[in-house]
Amino acid sequence: MDDGFRTIIEPFRIHSVEPMRMLDRAERQRRLAEAEYNLFALHADDVLIDLLTDSGTGAMSSEQWAAVQRGNEAYAGAPSWFRFEAAVKELFPFRHVLPTHQGRAAERILFSVVGGPGKVVPNNTHFDTTRANIEATGAEAVDLIIPEGRQPRTEHPFKGNMDVAALERLLAGRGGDVPLVMLTITNNSGGGQPVSMANMRAVRAVCARHGRPLFLDACRFAENAWFIKTREAGYAGVAVADIVREMASLADGMTMSAKKDPLANIGGWLAFNDDPLAEQCRNLEILTEGFPTYGGLAGRDLEAIAVGLREAVDEDYLRYRIASVRYLGDALRRLGVPVVVPFGGHAIFIDAREFLSHLPPLSYPGQSLACALYVEGGVRSCEIGTVMFGRQVDGTEQPAPMDLVRLAVPRRTYTQSHLDYVIEVVERVAAKAGDLVGMKATYLPGRLRHFTARFQPLPH
Ligand code: F0G
Repeated sequence: MDDGFRTIIEPFRIHSVEPMRMLDRAERQRRLAEAEYNLFALHADDVLIDLLTDSGTGAMSSEQWAAVQRGNEAYAGAPSWFRFEAAVKELFPFRHVLPTHQGRAAERILFSVVGGPGKVVPNNTHFDTTRANIEATGAEAVDLIIPEGRQPRTEHPFKGNMDVAALERLLAGRGGDVPLVMLTITNNSGGGQPVSMANMRAVRAVCARHGRPLFLDACRFAENAWFIKTREAGYAGVAVADIVREMASLADGMTMSAKKDPLANIGGWLAFNDDPLAEQCRNLEILTEGFPTYGGLAGRDLEAIAVGLREAVDEDYLRYRIASVRYLGDALRRLGVPVVVPFGGHAIFIDAREFLSHLPPLSYPGQSLACALYVEGGVRSCEIGTVMFGRQVDGTEQPAPMDLVRLAVPRRTYTQSHLDYVIEVVERVAAKAGDLVGMKATYLPGRLRHFTARFQPLPH
């Protein structure tokens, strides 16, 4: 209920706690040097507040843990599977639902069937694994985001929208090469920005005219639906679950990671209506994921997802969820920290290139800032910039379009005082931003570099 209180509280009591270990600054400095300045190489125990990702890091509810106990591990036709399938179809009533161990497995199965050399797959913005799974088949992945979606300071209520005219042009020219059109809701790589229902409808109409199916990458569907409810005319009085069903009704299928909005620690699925596609995908699924009624998941995981899906569309939860991310963003903005606006649903992105404007992009300001946040207060974030995207196809190192640092907020995991602490850590780093030095890469692998790259701080 929204009774107009200024304070939006966490709509849950704490049921079990996970102690955190406080290291001192010198110790953190040592651990970071041992990790060769790559935050992925830290032991998570040495991190105080972990904002590396919102994927699989949420807290499950008491109802989810109770459901875990109901998990039935029959190889085929387990009751847990039927409960999972029913929960998925309640929101996304596609004929075929194929469970997978996580989102990228759904992507791999789908694009192994529909991808291939000469094909092209448009999206508002492909997430890295989606792009990688498309490109691995020899197909091309293109991003058709609206121009505002590429501008970190431009306010727009639905910055995740697809450029419908660009889609029209692509389909008019190369429609026969397009196996499907995708929309990522919310648009993670663009800052967790939502797609409006009007845009989905317009994309749907273009797809229909060209006879192309529309698939949703629906990882953060509930956060997207909340933005539609609160920002799009005509939806204020519509229940979030109904908004989700309306989004599903515009699509022919979906890929999904249950590690995001469905509030589970693992899992995903692929769902659609096409019967011949289902036969091919199921055969591939059996090859690498498992029998199609468990698809690489334990029955208890299927149970946790089924309950999580219902909790994900609870409006008190969503009001709190979006408010807590906004709380972090508002505070950083008040401190004068350059952040991507408007704030997305799952994370706040700091513009490290502007924050550390004395550092050239090729000395990796995002990496430098992420390391500084860890040394200052044990906060782990993720560079999304030149470390991740700096290598060009010709092998040269060029600045990425932006150098961002993502503070992803795990679901139901941290309290407002944890976020107050994060804000204070950023404030302290801001006070000495001019003293931060850049980074020199001592090892950069060819692909997916951020996971295993190694660095040394440059001298003052
Ligand atoms: N699609 C989007 C939009 C995602 O954000 C992710 C994962 C995936 C697909 C792949 O799902 O991890 O279950 O295989 N994003 C995580 C992140 C890893 O940190 O943003 P997965």
